[in-house]
Amino acid sequence: MVKELMRIISGIQPSGKLHLGNYFGAMAQFLELQNKGECLFFIANLHALTTVREGLKLKELTQDLALDFLALGLDPQKATLFCQADVVGHAELLWYLSVVTPMGLLERAHSYKDKTARGFGTELGLFSYPVLMAADILLYGAEQVPVGKDQTQHLEMARDIATKFNLAFVPGYKPTDPEGKQSGVPGILKLPTALVQEETAVVPGIDGEKMSKSYGNVIELFAEEEVISKKIMAVKTDSTPPHSPKEPAGPLFTLLKLLAKPEEIKEIETSFREGGKGYGFYKQQLVELFHTTFGPARARRKELAKDRRYVRKVLDEGAEKARAAAAPLLHKVRQAMGMSLS
Ligand code: ADP
Ligand code: TRP
Repeated sequence: MVKELMRIISGIQPSGKLHLGNYFGAMAQFLELQNKGECLFFIANLHALTTVREGLKLKELTQDLALDFLALGLDPQKATLFCQADVVGHAELLWYLSVVTPMGLLERAHSYKDKTARGFGTELGLFSYPVLMAADILLYGAEQVPVGKDQTQHLEMARDIATKFNLAFVPGYKPTDPEGKQSGVPGILKLPTALVQEETAVVPGIDGEKMSKSYGNVIELFAEEEVISKKIMAVKTDSTPPHSPKEPAGPLFTLLKLLAKPEEIKEIETSFREGGKGYGFYKQQLVELFHTTFGPARARRKELAKDRRYVRKVLDEGAEKARAAAAPLLHKVRQAMGMSLS
């Protein structure tokens, strides 16, 4: 449960075009939360530098993601939207945290382990990715962090790093009493909690594996209509003939379930079990559900794309608000670490 005016933060990397997995795993939850807490959402362009190495491309992807957020319903009156690189406190806190972060903790990170296991060389940026992510969260004293299931390890690391910092720089800090309820000594850095939506924890791609831009199995939210149809028609199914009953499972059914209303999915499930219709019929139904769900956002995005100045203004104002929100914590951290001479 989200408490009233809880501070909530999350980010999405602008490392590719937004797809159904990103939407149901992350974005949909963000948008719902803007009515429930004090939300800060950012475009993690510093993180994206670990994979995107073309300035122009990253700039474009960043603008695209801002458009996606706004088209899908982020309301700048309710939530703060900004670019990570526009608030230099993220990079500053990254350094402060890195002096208390054990190498061993980072060596256990899945993303780093996967890349080295596959024989890739890694850079310091990828290695310290979880420390930057911890900085993103801790900078704002955020309590709740909506993320996809694959990010929960990063959240645990953020808690560990916060504890290390508090132990090092807050005299009398007790890890067993992080808020100082008994000792009267709360940590400077608050321990954040992950908010994971279990029902949509893993959205399947058109091949049945986890939908991910690195597997080339995605359905993008804002691709051209023909591309969407082609992708949906390519969703993997088995060879059950049209007249036979079908198991309501697999990627096609799962995607239908994400997009259909509860009463609609009941009907679809019954129809699967009864048989009589081929998979092509359900794929067509999925195309229609896709457009019913995202049609309004797709139209809004086209309009917004004509007004780049508005998007820029939202991001500039967002960055200003974010800098103000981060200032008190940065001040405390600098003082505790001996960075501030006043
Ligand atoms: P990708 O795997 O395409 O590179 P990212 O790693 O950039 O996606 O993920 C951005 C956000 O979207 C994360 O919070 C992640 O958990 C969520 N996400 C990505 N793919 C999926 C998926 N298939 N199912 C659920 N959530 C997902
Ligand atoms: N690592 C996250 C992802 O790949 C993006 C991210 C960066 C993030 N900083 C964050 C998410 C802080 C939540 C909070 O999806």
